[in-house]
Amino acid sequence: MSKFFSEETSAEAVNSRMGDRANPRLKQVMSSLVVHLHAFIKDVQLTQSEWETAIDFLTQTGQVCSSERQEFILLSDTLGASMLVDAINNRRPSGATENTVLGPFHVKGAPEREMGAAISFDGKGESCLFEGRVTDVEGRGISGARIDVWSDNAEGFYDVQQPDIQPKWNNRGTFTTGADGSYSFIGIKPVSYPIPHDGPVGQMLRKLGRHPYRPAHMHFIVTAPDFQKLVTHTFVADDGYMTSDAVFGVKETLIAPYERLQDAATLWRSSFNFVLAPSS
Ligand code: BEZ
Ligand code: FE
Repeated sequence: MSKFFSEETSAEAVNSRMGDRANPRLKQVMSSLVVHLHAFIKDVQLTQSEWETAIDFLTQTGQVCSSERQEFILLSDTLGASMLVDAINNRRPSGATENTVLGPFHVKGAPEREMGAAISFDGKGESCLFEGRVTDVEGRGISGARIDVWSDNAEGFYDVQQPDIQPKWNNRGTFTTGADGSYSFIGIKPVSYPIPHDGPVGQMLRKLGRHPYRPAHMHFIVTAPDFQKLVTHTFVADDGYMTSDAVFGVKETLIAPYERLQDAATLWRSSFNFVLAPSS
């Protein structure tokens, strides 16, 4: 190979500069990144002005990031990268509940509540009983499993998006399963909502003719000693955005029934069992 950079040898020219003492995994990741980046630039014959637009877009993406907002993760989510990384890193035995994207609205330290307790405090929305069991892949109940839940309110906003409007910890709670692994709590039937779309990622979606909506879902993190951490949602079956989730988080196995209850104080019931895979 020539000592100098050329269109033909571009990726090799860059990768051959890496020092012998660079971390081997870093070398593997960076050299593959360079190979694919250069192949992409050649594939689309990127123009100078397109390159400038890309730099400008990434600059704006960084500039809107703050301790409350992570636009780069949103970019990764909307490009399907978050779900791909999640899929690669959470391959599970058949029957175990599947993972999906965490999203930006999880807050650590939600109040521990009594089993069966309410989590919704703004008086909005259609009440819904969430219930089921946490089991291992053989169907044995797991006692002492921790279930951390959160959802948007009936207007499609998480409490942290409306700190002056919603009560703190609205539609959030943490529960611990008893002897048979069962859980229950009363929230609301979640509604679909748009991901934050007032920044560069929203602009990108508009330019691509994509909407920013997520189908209605309830978030769960389920943990228990000796089992893999489960980060997931259950989706409301008849949602119109089910096949066009802005962040590609839907999996068929996570679509839950929502049954309308008659003559009961609670309007809906959603039953779903979480099956944890053993930690390896
Ligand atoms: C969420 O479900 O809360 C979410 C996930 C990814 C991006 C934005 C929101
Ligand atoms: Fe969500």
